[in-house]
Amino acid sequence: MNNGLERLILALDVERVEEGRELLASLEGELKYVKIGHQLYARGGFPFLREIGAMGFSIFLDLKLHDIPNTVFQATEALASENLWALTLHCGGGRKMLEEARRGKEKAGSRTNLLGVTVLTSFDDASWAEVAPGCSLPDALEKRAALCRETGIDGIVCSPLDLPVVRAAGEGLFTVVPGVRPASADDDQARVATPQKTIANGADYIVVGRPILNAPNRIAAVRSIAASIEEGLKCRSL
Ligand code: C5P
Repeated sequence: MNNGLERLILALDVERVEEGRELLASLEGELKYVKIGHQLYARGGFPFLREIGAMGFSIFLDLKLHDIPNTVFQATEALASENLWALTLHCGGGRKMLEEARRGKEKAGSRTNLLGVTVLTSFDDASWAEVAPGCSLPDALEKRAALCRETGIDGIVCSPLDLPVVRAAGEGLFTVVPGVRPASADDDQARVATPQKTIANGADYIVVGRPILNAPNRIAAVRSIAASIEEGLKCRSL
């Protein structure tokens, strides 16, 4: 597998388990990481995750856990026992919740990467002010990235545009970046950048869904994005 594919995560945002299964079968050997969100997890649960794990894919379970610390401790212990590559937590749950998630992972003796989600990219300044009056969105992002670093979380999910702030405040954590588009794409992601630029700017992994899922030739789309990632890696070493 080339270096580009080692950094590409497919967002498997499909409605039916059967569709997900067929799609992954067509990409076996072409792709390593797969992100499963609430939709498909609700339909397929762990039987489906174990099935795709057995196919050789590394699983990123994007459940954005957000609850009282004790509940998140127990949930993380259970989920991290399942041989996942990564699991997301919502940083809005606060320091104690993030610490307890880490303790849950440790209790499970697991190597699952815990990833913090700082502020959902669906917020704009007005909708953010409704739920967090008095705290600007950039401030929240920076504080939450620092909280991930302080609590021993492994990585952070952030938009391409937030990479500089997140990399500074969350120094030492790896970054996973959705909202990445080949230059030609045209859909509803507003805060986007190309794979090459995102990797050149220091992202460790990129998450791509529709540009692969909707491509007429998915293997070609995966290979072309991987090539763009490799170009980005070259820019880093210049
Ligand atoms: O289809 P697309 O490439 O936009 O998919 C991006 C994936 O990343 C989706 O699964 C979406 O839920 C997720 N995501 C995102 N923005 C975030 C966090 C996750 O688009 N801030």
